[in-house]
Amino acid sequence: PQSRDIQFTLLMLEFCLLLVFQITHYKQYPPNVSKIYSYFECRRKKGSQFSEVVFFGLQYLLKKYLTGPVITEEKIQEAKLFYQMHFKQAVFDEEGWRKVLEKHDGRLPIRIKAVPEGRIIPRGNVLFTVENTDPSFYWLTNYIETMLVQMWYPITVATISREFKKILAKHLKATSGSLEGLDLKLHDFGYRGVSSQESAALGGAAHLVNFCSTDTVAGLLMAQRYYGCPMAGFSIPAAEHSTIISWGRSKEKEAFERVLDQFSSGPVSVVSDSYDIFNACKHIWGDKLKERVMERSQDSCLVIRPDSGDPAETLIEILEECFGSSLNSVGYKVLPSYLRIIQGDGIDLHSVEEVRKGDEGWSAENVFFGCGSALLQKLNRDTLSCAFKCSYVESNGKGMDVYKQPVTDPSKGSKKGRLSLRRNSDGFLETVERGAGKPEEDLLVTVFENGSLVKDYSLEEIRKNARLRDEEMNPTLHNHEPELLHNHIINGIH
Ligand SMILES: *[C@@H]1O[C@H](CO)[C@@H](O)[C@H](O)[C@H]1NC(C)=O
Ligand SMILES: *[C@@H]1O[C@H](CO)[C@@H](O)[C@H](O)[C@H]1NC(C)=O
Repeated sequence: PQSRDIQFTLLMLEFCLLLVFQITHYKQYPPNVSKIYSYFECRRKKGSQFSEVVFFGLQYLLKKYLTGPVITEEKIQEAKLFYQMHFKQAVFDEEGWRKVLEKHDGRLPIRIKAVPEGRIIPRGNVLFTVENTDPSFYWLTNYIETMLVQMWYPITVATISREFKKILAKHLKATSGSLEGLDLKLHDFGYRGVSSQESAALGGAAHLVNFCSTDTVAGLLMAQRYYGCPMAGFSIPAAEHSTIISWGRSKEKEAFERVLDQFSSGPVSVVSDSYDIFNACKHIWGDKLKERVMERSQDSCLVIRPDSGDPAETLIEILEECFGSSLNSVGYKVLPSYLRIIQGDGIDLHSVEEVRKGDEGWSAENVFFGCGSALLQKLNRDTLSCAFKCSYVESNGKGMDVYKQPVTDPSKGSKKGRLSLRRNSDGFLETVERGAGKPEEDLLVTVFENGSLVKDYSLEEIRKNARLRDEEMNPTLHNHEPELLHNHIINGIH
């Protein structure tokens, strides 16, 4: 039901009109081809900080764009005209598309097999495969390439978000003795910083695979409509600069007080750096409004938000001077439970790691993080080297393994033949090439066939698949981790 859908401002061209690049390809394949088989991977790359990826987002693309009768006579006519204008010659395969309409009721004779959503897969392994199921429509496989390669985005966001979670889990475990509250430690501030509503929806949902804290409402809607989760994330009322500065510079105290009055029962976040964060903490929160702050409880805590500079450490000490602190069970200091800090400026994987190193006796319980661009926008298809390549064709009834292997960049070589993914006897995931995999060991699941979605994952299942492993939460393993993971990959693959 299109009308109930999120109002995407970036209008996707309808399916038939989708791809300029592939539109002329049907004329270029060798004669008598009956099957094209392609796959998607995040290629391995030396020196990358990401050695494994979280698979997420395919179900949305399938449900939104590929299921059901997607080809109609009107779309064929529209596309014919469109490409006539675009190429100034008749290159659109009108007959081919009409055959899809007549033979398959406009449903795509395609099979997609994929890793279960939420699974953590070392880079360099197959993540999904695409093939035509009807020999007449071999050209369809790579026709939908552009859309499927866009999977790089939700995969990359889910992967980065999970890397944040690893760092935060270790920090929290080491300084508080437990993982309580981990799911709320990283808040998604990225909505305004992404390129479109659809990106916000996909990226916001990808973050929700790992956390439950967000302001990106589009991501919540996606989780609800495409992943069966009624409410995937939470937020708290928050003051922003306009609500503070509209009172005038001399009335910052009144502005703060107003927020406390309006939101007395639940937690509330107040941006406090409009003029001078140190003055605000020491003289307003810590003095003039001190009683008002102390009246609050853990369930209605005040979360102070510095929004500029790098003041979390200085700030926490000012707050300690005014409100005191106590030691938790593992000997780290915590502010009173009615008072917390959220650091939401300049947060990325590097700065979060720095905060962790510089904790100076403070527990991670005191600080929440907010992340915008580094989570949803400062990334691209090269971040995880995502690629979609053909690896197998059939013609004249015979199969042939195909691949690319450019002399100019061997790392861009592709896999050969039909692929499967298995856990080998050492417990590591590996891709088996050339059709040699045993079907009973294959971890790839058919998710789409002939226009129907045949497997539906809930966000709950996906979150379970993406859970941190024990060794990823254990602070003592930290220093050896990159090496360990590296060895896993070297030993595990191919
Ligand atoms: C294509 O198939 C036809 C019919 O089977 C056959 O006669 C022809 O030789 C084939 N062409 C090629 C290039 O294999
Ligand atoms: C999909 O379509 C192909 C060819 O039209 C057919 O051989 C195959 O059995 C179909 N798959 C299912 C699950 O119906």
